[in-house]
Amino acid sequence: MLQAHDRLLVVGITGAGKSYWTKAHVVERSSRLFAWDPHGDYAQASVRTTLVGAAKALPQASRGNFRLSVVEPIGSAAFFDRFESWCDLAMTLERTTLLVEECVAIRSSTSARQKLTLLATQARHRGSPLVMVAQRAVHVHPDARSQISRLVAFRQTHPADVRALSEITGKNAEGVTMLPRHVPWVWSESDTWQK
Ligand SMILES: Nc1ncnc2c1ncn2[C@@H]1O[C@H](COP(=O)(O)OP(=O)(O)OP(=O)(O)O)[C@@H](O)[C@H]1O
Ligand SMILES: [Mg+2]
Repeated sequence: MLQAHDRLLVVGITGAGKSYWTKAHVVERSSRLFAWDPHGDYAQASVRTTLVGAAKALPQASRGNFRLSVVEPIGSAAFFDRFESWCDLAMTLERTTLLVEECVAIRSSTSARQKLTLLATQARHRGSPLVMVAQRAVHVHPDARSQISRLVAFRQTHPADVRALSEITGKNAEGVTMLPRHVPWVWSESDTWQK
């Protein structure tokens, strides 16, 4: 189970099993979840909504247990603005697992990236763990990467990603290039992770 101070990074090439793993180990085990979920990957395990819908529902919902996923198609005109508003809403929540899928989609916007880094450094003060999902480790900005306390790495093939994983863990991450499908390498800074 994730703790309030956890910042978890889930990486792996397309089809490796990131969303499947995250649904089983994060979404279905969180009693309070707020997700940025462009493809609607978690729509069956949570309530799918828009940003406006989330802003309306949260004041009431956040008093109890809830799982809300904001689904916003990648490339839509308001994509970055809405992501930043999602981050603002996320910062108002307490003891809520915050999940960001498809980190690649926000990396070209400096202000969106900065908002995500702010979440990575500040959400734990509100008791909220953060989970970031990306096809490549380098898709997550180094400032956010430096906050990672747990890693679930499916297959990565690019040397830059292997280097990034070695930097995060302080271990030789070369083995991730040979991982079979759906099998992750799991690392935790505290070595006491109960999955
Ligand atoms: N442990 C598993 N056991 C059985 N099937 C799995 C497992 N992990 C993933 N799958 C299946 O493999 C496919 C790809 O998995 P998933 O959608 O999680 O990939 P992904 O890493 O999120 O890819 P993308 O980056 O494209 O979103 C899905 O059909 C999923 O159901
Ligand atoms: Mg996925």
